[in-house]
Amino acid sequence: MNGLKATDPVRPRGPHPRTRLRLGLLLVAGAGCAFGQAPATGSMFSETLPIPPILAPTSTKGGIAEYELTAHAGQTSFFTDRATPTYGYNGMSYLGPTIRLQRGHQARITLHNHLPADGPAPMPMAMDPAAPPMGHAGVPNGSSLHLHGLAVAAEADTTPSNCCVPLPPGRDQASAVFKVDQPSATLWYHPHPYMDTGRQVYMGLAGLLIIDDPKDAPLRLPHTYGVDDLPLIVQDRRFGPDRGLLFRDRKEDAEGMLGNRILVNGVLAPHAEVPAARIRLRLINASNARAYFFGFRDGHAFHQIATDGGLLPAPVEVDRVMVPPAGRAEILVDFSRDAGKALHLVSNGFQAPAGQSSLSLPNGANFPVMEFRVAASKAASKIPPILPAKLAELPAADEARATVTRTFDLEKGGDEDAGGGDDTINGKLFDMARIDEHVKAGAWEIWTVVNHSREMVHPFHVHGIQFRVLKRNSGPLVPNDQGWKDTVNVLPRETVRLLLHFDRQAGTYMYHCHNLEHEDMGMMGQYQVEP
Ligand code: C2O
Ligand code: CU
Ligand code: CU
Repeated sequence: MNGLKATDPVRPRGPHPRTRLRLGLLLVAGAGCAFGQAPATGSMFSETLPIPPILAPTSTKGGIAEYELTAHAGQTSFFTDRATPTYGYNGMSYLGPTIRLQRGHQARITLHNHLPADGPAPMPMAMDPAAPPMGHAGVPNGSSLHLHGLAVAAEADTTPSNCCVPLPPGRDQASAVFKVDQPSATLWYHPHPYMDTGRQVYMGLAGLLIIDDPKDAPLRLPHTYGVDDLPLIVQDRRFGPDRGLLFRDRKEDAEGMLGNRILVNGVLAPHAEVPAARIRLRLINASNARAYFFGFRDGHAFHQIATDGGLLPAPVEVDRVMVPPAGRAEILVDFSRDAGKALHLVSNGFQAPAGQSSLSLPNGANFPVMEFRVAASKAASKIPPILPAKLAELPAADEARATVTRTFDLEKGGDEDAGGGDDTINGKLFDMARIDEHVKAGAWEIWTVVNHSREMVHPFHVHGIQFRVLKRNSGPLVPNDQGWKDTVNVLPRETVRLLLHFDRQAGTYMYHCHNLEHEDMGMMGQYQVEP
């Protein structure tokens, strides 16, 4: 542990322009760098990056891989002096094991809720003192399991069958048997109980769900999990003087919980020892409200190979990639010329909306994430030095196929300068008893998502499907917009057009803002796929 005091926020040095963003994302390349600020004691990156273990199925009887996840409370030593009360799965005090599924196979996932029955203390509803308290989803510490990015029927996606309904502590529930039928991808799982998702994820409940498609083996992408294929679950957290996780203890947190310390795979600013070869990084943003603009401190270029839902048509060389809350990106980094060096993964500065938190590390700040210590000698790597020219066949995002167009107005009610009002979609707060959109099975649709907020970014997410981004009115699409997506950042005053193909079974699914505080406050709706 690096022994940083909780009161030492990792902050960008130097002024960071915080003018309000209107259209587009104005990049602030080379804005203040946090590396100049040494921690008070110990050194940064002293902890080794842990790799979440792969969960073995408890049974494969009848060709169905059975997975069991048990959510429970625990104590995690983020700091040397005192442990932090947290939540985790399957004996891990924080986060959970990685579930790895193969395309074409059948699986079922059972959630056991062993969270303490007494549940959380009520959270203040910061926007409106008269509103009901946060933190209780009707049942104390009820949890649920949502398989984020999995393209399956609603009953399989989640336990209970409506992911917003909490499963009470002491109870178990299995998802429906499902067949994995989507390309190789880095997905994830997390709880989804209405009004308490943000707190439970913040306490540590999240894990990876990796889909492998055997047809991609000839690409010979790095795939030795934990060696040259590293999952990086990136989260920001805020700790109190007692090392406890602080959640929504400030008024502005209601607009998105931002921390001032960065965790990767549940460890503060770790390092990883990597071969001097081309390696694959799976970047997972499991933060409540922070977007990361990942890159290397020295500008080291890399290739993006996958977006949320699978491989891109071809590797794209970039030196930074924006990953919104809940988003993922897979990149290949060639360390073959960096033997013996230490390289730093950072989040580059970007011009983010102001107003979230002046005391915390603001969204858009430039800060370090972790360190890579490249082996001194060049690895006798089996990975070919040549990048595959092609990765995947993606159907053209042809909007002419769409027969239905819907508009989703994301709005911050009230006076934004005075904190604003409710976060709504089409003027409505979430209501579990209401179906907002009726969709015909097999339909192609265009969803136009309009962010009317002047300040808030809304990462828009649709359950049970991978979609394509057609257009942003703020500028051209970036590589991370050009593959399969399930979560798309919609900037203030921005309009994004999506193409969706509802190519699956009937059922009820959610769509929502994946800023978990917005989601918990009701910026969510339901669509029903009908035969
Ligand atoms: Cu990760 Cu409803 O979402
Ligand atoms: Cu989801
Ligand atoms: Cu939002």
